[in-house]
Amino acid sequence: MKLKDWYKENKRNFSLSELNVIFKGFARDGLVSLSREGNRLLGKKQIEKLDKIRVDRSKGVPLALSLDREEFFGFSFKVNKDALIPRPETELLTEAAQELISKNSLEKILDLCSGCGNIGISLDKLITADLKVYLSDLSLKSLALARENAVNLGTKVKIVNSNLFSAFKKDSFDLIITNPPYVESENIKGSLSYEPKLALDGGKDGLNLIKKIIAQAYKYLTDKGYLIMEFGYGQKKKIEDIICKNRQYKIKQWIKDYGKNWRGVVLQKRG
Ligand SMILES: C[S@@+](CC[C@H](N)C(=O)[O-])C[C@H]1O[C@@H](n2cnc3c(N)ncnc32)[C@H](O)[C@@H]1O
Repeated sequence: MKLKDWYKENKRNFSLSELNVIFKGFARDGLVSLSREGNRLLGKKQIEKLDKIRVDRSKGVPLALSLDREEFFGFSFKVNKDALIPRPETELLTEAAQELISKNSLEKILDLCSGCGNIGISLDKLITADLKVYLSDLSLKSLALARENAVNLGTKVKIVNSNLFSAFKKDSFDLIITNPPYVESENIKGSLSYEPKLALDGGKDGLNLIKKIIAQAYKYLTDKGYLIMEFGYGQKKKIEDIICKNRQYKIKQWIKDYGKNWRGVVLQKRG
């Protein structure tokens, strides 16, 4: 079978951009682009792999899991069922961190709840100054994946197993950036059921971990250090109330996702 024939048979099942991602993933197997390589004959293994992707798709398996890869900030991360698949909105928080680090010459950074390591590893790659980047997570399996990504992408981040801040000393970090679990337990269904519950489940109101992070993070920040935190749709008002009651932070900026929903906040520890 030719690549263009597989495309013709399957274009109903995928959008063109998904097909481009699939064929890009196949570049490692010798396929480059549909327009240039359409007449290329697919080998048995390649057809099997493409058909598996189609079957996965019909079951609702996220495409990134079928391909074992996801792009984040232009870097290719290995992903698997042990960690959350990086999402585009998290790039916007990473971008805000990149700006803060450069503007304020921040040096010691913690990516708390690091999953596959996408935030911390990207920051380490994007910033040329000498950063000390720590990745921490409760899940040993996600830390193993993060270690693999750090090696593959050539970064020297430090990887720490920690239940939130349990492994860290007070006054340690100039910036803590975190994308914690914040999905309301009852909303973990559909394609989300392919990702680890530990990465998603924020309890009944989604705010279990977020409340703990706000209550503790300032102790682990250096003087006037920053906390950048992602949160879910519709959670801004409750989070604003928690921050105001806590009194340890100034709100510097709220961040919207690509759909113009409030999805993140930049806080500064009060001096
Ligand atoms: C939403 S995922 C974020 C993954 C990654 N940072 C990203 O942006 O794609 C949340 C992560 O928090 C971790 N986690 C859950 N509870 C934790 C805890 N108590 N302490 C540390 N990490 C925890 C999960 O294992 C998961 O990797």
